[in-house]
Amino acid sequence: MSTNITPQDLEKVVPQAEDFLPLLGTDYVELYVGNAKQAAYYYQTAWGFQPIAYAGLETGRKDSVSYVLEQDKIRLVLTSPLQPDGDINKHINSHGDGVKVVALWVDDATKSYKETIKRGAKSYMEPTVEEDQHGKVVFSGIHTYGETVHVFVERKNYHGAFLPGYMAWNKPYETKPTGLKYIDHMVGNVGWNEMNKWCEFYAKVMGFAQLVSFDDKDISTEYTALMSKVMSNGNGRIKFPINEPAEGRKKSQIEEYIDFYNGAGVQHIAVATDNIIETVSELQNRGVEFLTVPSTYYDTVLDRVGEIDEDLEPLRDLGILIDRDDEGYLLQIFTKPVLDRPTMFFEIIQRKGAQSFGKGNFKALFEAIEREQEQRGTL
Ligand SMILES: [Fe+2]
Repeated sequence: MSTNITPQDLEKVVPQAEDFLPLLGTDYVELYVGNAKQAAYYYQTAWGFQPIAYAGLETGRKDSVSYVLEQDKIRLVLTSPLQPDGDINKHINSHGDGVKVVALWVDDATKSYKETIKRGAKSYMEPTVEEDQHGKVVFSGIHTYGETVHVFVERKNYHGAFLPGYMAWNKPYETKPTGLKYIDHMVGNVGWNEMNKWCEFYAKVMGFAQLVSFDDKDISTEYTALMSKVMSNGNGRIKFPINEPAEGRKKSQIEEYIDFYNGAGVQHIAVATDNIIETVSELQNRGVEFLTVPSTYYDTVLDRVGEIDEDLEPLRDLGILIDRDDEGYLLQIFTKPVLDRPTMFFEIIQRKGAQSFGKGNFKALFEAIEREQEQRGTL
């Protein structure tokens, strides 16, 4: 990842966002997991992430290990505890494997901390400097929904593999990348009647603005419903849709998440590709499981979205969904949960002009999720 971008290099695309931080992009996403070594193997083998850094007993860390993997601009950190007790164990005990840190890349972590704390953020980590022979990094952090946190990372004076305290992780075992480019958006699930509270948090504390609003009439099937609003920073590099459950005839998928995650948390990470057909073919070949819609979806989809560049056949074979807005269209597909609990999953998205989130697919998609819920006995 380039470390020499300044806030002035990034065009403002969401004029109503205040953007006082400002954010340069997602720095990394850290998951607390039960077995980081095996999770790292999964993301490397199935998803094509490349190993870049490691911290653990060999680097002087006594209580936990972290494996860092990268694919283009996406960085995942997988952390497991080495001892009983402690915060990581508590997190895993409560939530299962899941996202703890959504780290945001900033030009000035001290200023980001002051600006957000001043506006009401709860402190997670005061500005802290860490150094090694490759330079220095400044961190700070604030709490967001559930037990999830944002860590601000200022790395303009750092040139090492990842962060101070990590060693480069060179592994002879190689896997080919699957074409994943960057994190397009990350979605948070929050509890009943909490969506507006957290959207206000991102507006007031982080200077974000709301992009789109869906209500439960947009996002409901016969049985289940949810509400969602999308918050974005000024340059559009950070987009956080926030979902809350809505009343339906049966249990909302958001409620199922909240029950199993034991609170609010990250629901899905949407990763962008330039060629969704190639990416999804490769992921399926490597055993990643996706939600599928009935093939009748494809009988009428082009009537709804109009002409597209791709042939319909491979999209139908792979189960890739299509939607259009005023600016263009998008192709997307969702994995099944990638953890034991029915909590977090991934979305693969290819944008061809469209800047929206696939509203036209919600009904078909949620019916697919409900079929899975039915099998789990949680509908
Ligand atoms: Fe999404």
